[in-house]
Parts: sequence; structure tokens; C-alpha cells
Amino acid sequence: MSSLQHFGWFLSRGFGPHGWGHPYYEWNYPWHSPKLYQQSVRDLEQAGFDLVIIEDALSLGNADTLDLRIRSAYGGPKHDPLLLAPYLFAATEHIGIAPTVNPLAYSPYQAARQFATLQHLSDYRFGINVVTDVGSSRHFGVEPLAHDQAYDRAEEWLTAVRRLWHSWGPDALIADPATARFADGSKLDAFEHRGEHYRFDGPLNALPFPELGAEQLSGDPVVVSPGGSGRGLNFAGEQSEVQLALASLDVETIRAYRAKVLEAARAHGRSASDIVILFVFKPVIVSSEEEAQRLVDASAHPDDAALLQIAAGQSSDLETDLTALDLDRPVDPSIFGDHVSRGTIKGLLGRYDDFADATLRQLLTPKARLGRISDRAGYVGTAEEVADFIQELGDEADNDGFIFSGDLHPVTIHRMLDEVVPILRRRGILRTEFGDGGLRGNLRDF
Ligand SMILES: Cc1cc2nc3c(=O)[nH]c(=O)nc-3n(C[C@H](O)[C@H](O)[C@H](O)COP(=O)(O)O)c2cc1C
Repeated sequence: MSSLQHFGWFLSRGFGPHGWGHPYYEWNYPWHSPKLYQQSVRDLEQAGFDLVIIEDALSLGNADTLDLRIRSAYGGPKHDPLLLAPYLFAATEHIGIAPTVNPLAYSPYQAARQFATLQHLSDYRFGINVVTDVGSSRHFGVEPLAHDQAYDRAEEWLTAVRRLWHSWGPDALIADPATARFADGSKLDAFEHRGEHYRFDGPLNALPFPELGAEQLSGDPVVVSPGGSGRGLNFAGEQSEVQLALASLDVETIRAYRAKVLEAARAHGRSASDIVILFVFKPVIVSSEEEAQRLVDASAHPDDAALLQIAAGQSSDLETDLTALDLDRPVDPSIFGDHVSRGTIKGLLGRYDDFADATLRQLLTPKARLGRISDRAGYVGTAEEVADFIQELGDEADNDGFIFSGDLHPVTIHRMLDEVVPILRRRGILRTEFGDGGLRGNLRDF
């Protein structure tokens, strides 16, 4: 029998037009009303998933590329996932919900207050996915910071938010009708924060969170982080209880990634059991090995329509329109403005060193290519093969678990999970019941 692993779902499109671009859009769920998401998270809870993380971007990005961002709904619209969270809590009992939050958009006081409220309302099932993107700074009247400075700001923000959550001392709350005394103001921490990025005063006017259960787990909302740079992994080691890891899924890479995060955790006086590292996983589950092979074979020769679809996705990430370019000529690198992420440009180049070395078709073709999970060459496979892969990475790489990634839509959830859930349960890899410790409890149940 293998060990239990943790599973979550990354709602990779954010709170946006779910299903757009796919036939299942015509199931006619209005994407801006809560029922679609409520139905989906109920199914994920039924499947034994610990949490849902909701992607977000604060704006439509660069003013010159608005059409590019919205014409296929790749970059927007996006409604605020924080405000979706209460509807998801109302529909479920155990699963945690962690919307994406960017410190540039919330003062620590506002953040601490809203998150405390959601933590109380959800019975300890709230988390925040803390991101450091600076592309939307101008909408908030703040200067864009450099990569590492944005992490510095996030650290100052989280430390300040936590101090506010703890600004009611352990015996500040009395709530004793006999003495008609609700609380003791002398036990509150009226601190003054004067930091590099924020200046404000405490204490918070929201109630603190009592510790949970015999283990006295902290009642604070759970912090999730996704950054994969050295700075990002150090941030995770110091601050996070869940790291959303994007990496190639093989034993060696997972071991190396885990080692870096756990080393950072230890350097900050934490232990391996304080953080759960979940790798992003997007399998293509098919009904037979023959079907898997058919898909893989076809993907080696993508037609122009398939390449254009990939170009549209890349164009949104690159804030540069690739769809209007000739597929059979090299890309002129001067089309990428200074604002475009160098990492994303490198991602487009793939194994090529220079744009002169390849046509756009040659750059895009490898991005269409699928591989069999049974050969460890990609992620197409039957449910049994996907379960074998999950089991292998748990057994051989000590993997904590996975974040499935996709739309939060009943069709995508059932397509990915219907067959895999029972197999994982039979093998003892996926939980069959929840404890009652909220999101942190889910992460510490095993
Ligand atoms: C799996 C994953 C998910 C992410 N989700 C978001 C998101 O929802 N919103 C956002 O603004 N940035 C998101 N980011 C970006 C990170 O917050 C960060 O800004 C970016 O990864 C750069 O930091 P890094 O160099 O440490 O990776 C995500 C990154 C990864 C790897």
C-alpha cells in the first residue's frame, strides 16, 4: 500500500469565462454566477480534495494589447476571486478555498480584516495564494517594483498581516455575560508599523482565531505561494504552508525542487511537516492505450489551426500578437517590447538559442506535441496509467501530492477525475474522509 497524498485543484483561468473556446461552454452555465463553481467544488470535496486555488490577475495588462488579452478570453475578463470564496464555502463543508491575492492591491490592514472575516465565516477553510506580479501597479497608483523587491514587499505585508491577526492577546476576549465584560482593551497590541512599503497602526478590530484541536493548530488563514525562482522558493520556505510547484514531473526534478523548498524552510526554523508541496498536473485521460497512442501520433503533425490556437495562448502571455505572423518565417525579436517577460520569451524559444534559428512553426510545433504517460514522455494516458504515475512519484520522490489544473467546470472535473478517484482510493493514495480542522487540518491529516 502506498502513502496518502494531498490533492488540490488550480482554477487556472481565474474567475472568468469558463469553458470559452471549448464545446462544454455550451452547457450554458453562466460563468459569472456562483452555481457553476458551487457545483464544481462540491464534486471536488466529494473526490477528497484538500483545496481549490483560484488564479487571478488584477488587470488586463498593457494598454496597447487589450484586444489581444480579451479576444479569446485568455487574459480577461476576470472577476475578483476573493468575493467568490463565500459562495464556495456556503456550498461545502471541508474543502479549503485559496483565492490569489497580490500585496500590491491591499493595504495590510484591509487584507488582515477581510481575510479574518472570511476565516471566521468559513470555519477555518480560507487560504491566500500570495503572488508578486507587478504588471498592474499603475492601476493602484504604485510604482512597479523589481522582481526581488516585490518579494520584499510581500514579506513585509505578510508579517504585518499576521501581526494584525495576533494583535488581540490570548486573553483579550472574555465574553462573560456574568461580569458583563466582552473584552479587555489592555490586552490589545496597538503597535505602529513603519516599514519600507507600509505605514499603519494596529490593532485589528476583528476577533483573533482560537487554536484548533488537541494539536493546537494555528487558526490563521493558510498561506500558499507559487513563485519558482530562488527568491520564490525561499519565500515559500519561510512563509507558506502550501507551495504550488510548476516543474517537470519526474523523480529527479521533484526531489530537487522539494529539497530546495525544505532547505529554505529549515533555514527559517521550520520543518518539512510545516509545508506541503503540490505539483501542477494536467493529465489528458483517455479510455484506452490505443486512444492514447492515436492522440500522441496526431500531435506530432499539428495542422495550422492547432498551431494558431497555441499562438493565441502564447500571444496573450507574451502581450505580443503572434497570430498575425507568417508561420513559415522566423520571428523578428524586436516585436517584443521591453515590458514582455524575458522568461516567457525564453519559453517560446524552447530548445532554440536564437529566433533566427527557427520558423514560428518550428517554435510552436513542440508545444503541440503530446506524450504517453506510460513512457514518462508526457501526460496522456488511461486512468490506471495516471494512477501508476501518481503512485510512483509518491513512492520514489516522496511527493506530497498534486494540483490538478484546469477550468472549474463540472465537465473538466469529471473528465479528469471520474476514473482516477476510485483507483487512487483503492490504492490508499487518496483520502476517503476529512477531519474537522479546516484547511490547515486537511494539510495535516496525514
Ligand atoms: C503555478 C503558478 C501559478 C501562478 N499564479 C499566479 C496568479 O494567479 N496570479 C499572478 O499574478 N501571478 C501568478 N503567478 C506568478 C507568481 O506570483 C510570480 O509573480 C512569478 O512566478 C514570478 O516569480 P518567480 O520568478 O519567483 O516565479 C503564478 C506562478 C506560478 C508558477
